[in-house]
Amino acid sequence: MTPVSFRSDNVAGVAPEILAAIGAANGGTAPSYGTDPLTAQLQERFGQLFETKVRVAPVATGTAANALSLSLLAGPYGAVMCSATAHINDSECGAGEFFTGGAKLVTLASRHGKLQPDALEHALATAGIGMTHRVQPQLLSVTEGTERGTLYQLDELRELFAIAKRFGLRIHMDGARFANALAALRCSPAELTWKLGVDVLSFGATKNGAMCTDAVVVFDPGLFDELGFRARRAGQVFSKMRFLSAQLLAYVEGGLWLRLADNANATAARLARGLEALSGVTLVDPVEINEVFATMPPGMIEGLKAAGMGFHDRGGGHIRAVTAFDTTEEQVDAFLAAAARHAD
Ligand SMILES: Cc1ncc(COP(=O)(O)O)c(C=O)c1O
Repeated sequence: MTPVSFRSDNVAGVAPEILAAIGAANGGTAPSYGTDPLTAQLQERFGQLFETKVRVAPVATGTAANALSLSLLAGPYGAVMCSATAHINDSECGAGEFFTGGAKLVTLASRHGKLQPDALEHALATAGIGMTHRVQPQLLSVTEGTERGTLYQLDELRELFAIAKRFGLRIHMDGARFANALAALRCSPAELTWKLGVDVLSFGATKNGAMCTDAVVVFDPGLFDELGFRARRAGQVFSKMRFLSAQLLAYVEGGLWLRLADNANATAARLARGLEALSGVTLVDPVEINEVFATMPPGMIEGLKAAGMGFHDRGGGHIRAVTAFDTTEEQVDAFLAAAARHAD
């Protein structure tokens, strides 16, 4: 058995189908900077997938996808409403603020990583819209599935977006774990995005089996051209774009992305069930995708470390364990067995 690491879904490798697609794209020459046939095919394929015309820009990281997305939807004196736990807020070193030319992230308290309608309504109603002294709310950014491993149900998103739209905001979705959310919700990509009012989606793939490839997916045709300019300016128009496009095509081919996400979600659920059954362990957030947040006794944390089990020790008895597209039940059970040896 390979060593067990649930530190992050970023510690996983590349799905064999995606690696094969890179190899298949490697024959001969191809036009550069996204003018190649695979990138053209990608636009068509994602149009079918999302059941509407879209513009897709492959990018190297989720941070690039988010920063570019924000820059399309918010300007220098804009306010971007988001959860305090949002990755754009606590893990991207101010990229969103930088790429928008200075928009301010206005963070709201969340429950299990999810924005609450009342808090959003209150924040917007008291934001000082029209006052030159205040940044102006322009964008709502939600993460689906969330940084706390939870999911917004479609109705919950509908409610948040209705509030945002009433105040004239645009909508961004950070979908670093979009496939995990979709696999769990069992709805269509269209139902989870533009049909709810999402203008721009950060489409994650790296965490779920791609190699350094995520994407920005734009639903508003008015932003299609701007995406190209902004992506180039951000250094995200790759000369050998075919290798990124090939990955995204392989990722969605035949439902691969959902099968991979299903495995990550199912192994996280198994891990959560097993941990919950151990004395001294409490799940901190509902486990709805592939992330498990729990508290456990210090002895168990040390015991897991001593057994070579990888996970994120968040301090104070809190841990985060994240499963991936290639996590096996055997690995989960080995983790649980090591934890059980140190249960109260
Ligand atoms: C919710 C969320 N958004 C975006 C990202 C993308 O980040 P990165 O730029 O590290 O790929 C991550 C990665 O951890 C994430 O969890």
